[in-house]
Amino acid sequence: GSNALWGSRFEGGPSDALVALSRSVHFDWRLAAYDIAGTRAHIKALQSAGYLSVAELEKIDRSLVELLDRVNKGSFQAKPTDEDVHSALERGLIEIAGVELGGKVRAGRSRNDQIATLIRTYLLDQAVIIREQVTQLIEVLVSRAEEHLGVAMPGRTHFQHAQPVQLSHHLLAHAWPLVRDLERLEDWRKRANLSPYGAGALAGNTLGLDPNLVARELGLAGPTQNSIDATASRDVVAEFSFITTLIGINLSRFSEEIIIWASAEFDYVKLHDAYSTGSSIMPQKKNPDIAELARGKAGRLIGDLTGLLATLKGLPLAYNRDLQEDKEPVFDAVDTLTVLLPAFTGMVATLQFNRNRLELLAPAGFSLATDVAEWLVKQKVAFRDAHEITGKLVSYCEQHNLELHEVPDAEMAAISPALTPDVRDVLTVGGSIKARAGAGGTALPRVLEQIAALRKIAPKR
Ligand code: ARG
Repeated sequence: GSNALWGSRFEGGPSDALVALSRSVHFDWRLAAYDIAGTRAHIKALQSAGYLSVAELEKIDRSLVELLDRVNKGSFQAKPTDEDVHSALERGLIEIAGVELGGKVRAGRSRNDQIATLIRTYLLDQAVIIREQVTQLIEVLVSRAEEHLGVAMPGRTHFQHAQPVQLSHHLLAHAWPLVRDLERLEDWRKRANLSPYGAGALAGNTLGLDPNLVARELGLAGPTQNSIDATASRDVVAEFSFITTLIGINLSRFSEEIIIWASAEFDYVKLHDAYSTGSSIMPQKKNPDIAELARGKAGRLIGDLTGLLATLKGLPLAYNRDLQEDKEPVFDAVDTLTVLLPAFTGMVATLQFNRNRLELLAPAGFSLATDVAEWLVKQKVAFRDAHEITGKLVSYCEQHNLELHEVPDAEMAAISPALTPDVRDVLTVGGSIKARAGAGGTALPRVLEQIAALRKIAPKR
């Protein structure tokens, strides 16, 4: 049959192949409640501009509430013949309110301004959920950091032992990027929180509908400023997608560490049974599947973002049907992240740290060499020379299979007269950590400051 929304100037109906290609209702149906909310706001604007009587407004509004109820209960569903969520719900409204009333609702709007609005209101709600989940993860990281204050571990650069750090400091280093992701979501909200309703197909509407009224009804800060931009831009969707991708990448970097930490060679952590998996053939296995899935899904999120950006790249103004391709990737990003975050947080919350092993390995690999060099600087040796002297000391240790603090006094003096036995004062992990008390350092007071700051963002539960 001919299409319900635009059939009259066409002869016959669309081909089955076109219908199959064009159809979006199987994925945009999740916007149904947002579409109904948009329509409820729109009819108020129609009434206030004189296109509906108060009685008509009330009847349509009641019908829309009834429709929402049917949608929620599943007693109203999209049919294979419905093109998209908008046309399906118009059919539903007409079923309830009758064709005369139901047919008045479409005045002064287009699916173009409709969809541009719904994707915003939908993502704004999803952002609240994601922010809450990210905040929980931050809270868990802070709690774990608090629990393990004073435990040293090897700090690395280039994945080589570099300088000892506190485990707490390392854990908090994974919290701060997530804090910035929260800030990004908050900042994104300012741009997303506007209503394209009233932009019409591209040029605005002629009916004098009040866009402020619609925006207010939808809980948005106000209308968008340019009807072409309002209907044709999706940078708000792309930015949201970028933030979800970055969250995924932040989880993925931590995951990579957890996977390594859980290996027999590292043995830094043990995963809780409830957050790890076994093997169907190898009875001894305990696998970090959550971390691996996080790492894998970060790739998927990058794909979602990249696909969307590629869709937008060549589009002339204003609306093009390509824009329908914004939804599946961003829906996938939402679904991916909202199922990943709780599992990831549970894994981190239950991770068991092998404190003894972390402490044991903290000074390995001559990780206190920088402390020697900086001690020499404090004895007024130029850093260039201090670096060289310490390098010789490390080389001596390697040749004689000694730790830094085990080098005899005479041998130290032979390397440099500046290397007096007092240097041993800084050759402990505790001393090294304590000494790094500069801004943002790993010393205890600095870590406690971080915990206090992060507790304001993610209060203890
Ligand atoms: N389903 C479309 C989208 O997601 C909205 C409908 C606009 N369609 C149109 N032919 N103008 O963007």
